[in-house]
Amino acid sequence: MARKKFLMGNWKMNHTIAEANAFCEDVKDASLVKLARNKGVMLGVAPTFLSLTAVKKHAHGLIVSAQDVHYADHGAYTSNISIPMLKEIDVNWSIIGHSEKRTYEGETSFTCNRKIKAMVANDMHAIYCVGETAAQYDAGITKDVIREQVVTGLQGLTKDQMAYIVLAYEPVWSIGTGKNASVEIAQDICSYIRGLINELFGKVASQKVQILYGGSVKPNNIHDYLQAEDVDGALVGGASLKSASFKELLENI
Ligand code: 13P
Repeated sequence: MARKKFLMGNWKMNHTIAEANAFCEDVKDASLVKLARNKGVMLGVAPTFLSLTAVKKHAHGLIVSAQDVHYADHGAYTSNISIPMLKEIDVNWSIIGHSEKRTYEGETSFTCNRKIKAMVANDMHAIYCVGETAAQYDAGITKDVIREQVVTGLQGLTKDQMAYIVLAYEPVWSIGTGKNASVEIAQDICSYIRGLINELFGKVASQKVQILYGGSVKPNNIHDYLQAEDVDGALVGGASLKSASFKELLENI
């Protein structure tokens, strides 16, 4: 089954509103949305909460995603943002479970599951991140870690709700380090994840679900990843920040 390719830039805690606007101007000038459409690639960025409105306004046609969302509609959860708040500004996507949330802020697969369930119940798309640390990789337990993250994170979803889920395999040791995983590793784990989706939700869901690789993806290596059978796209940090490099990533798919 042909799955659409997907390039998503995760800006993390980068870009002021002014910088985000400048990026959007460049995207417009370079007709990147049109290029993506012609190539059949889904193209998006995940700015900070603060820049979401500006990017929504200035980058027509780009998928605009939050980097996290809370599972509750409202309430005493200082510093958080809710699904209705995102929907009010027409943001229908969020990254969930990024390793930086897991490492620095105690995010667990269980809390990811609460968020994902709330999102799909509200017609929101989740880009659910999974990945092992260097120590787990060295201990040879990568697949056990991924299994726990996938099984717990997606628990209770129906086959139909899987249409709202994109998975991203991001080995923690490859993020921001320049030590990108080999294409063989990326393919092996993305194929393993697809097998898990088959086990949990059946063949149709497993063939439809998009699985991205993330971790030191650059314009000079993105093409190789996207040749791998089970890698449907890339979740890119550093190389998505500058519009010129974002353009090159897209061109090289
Ligand atoms: P880098 O592309 O900077 O390694 O970051 C990857 C990432 O964490 C995307 O979510």
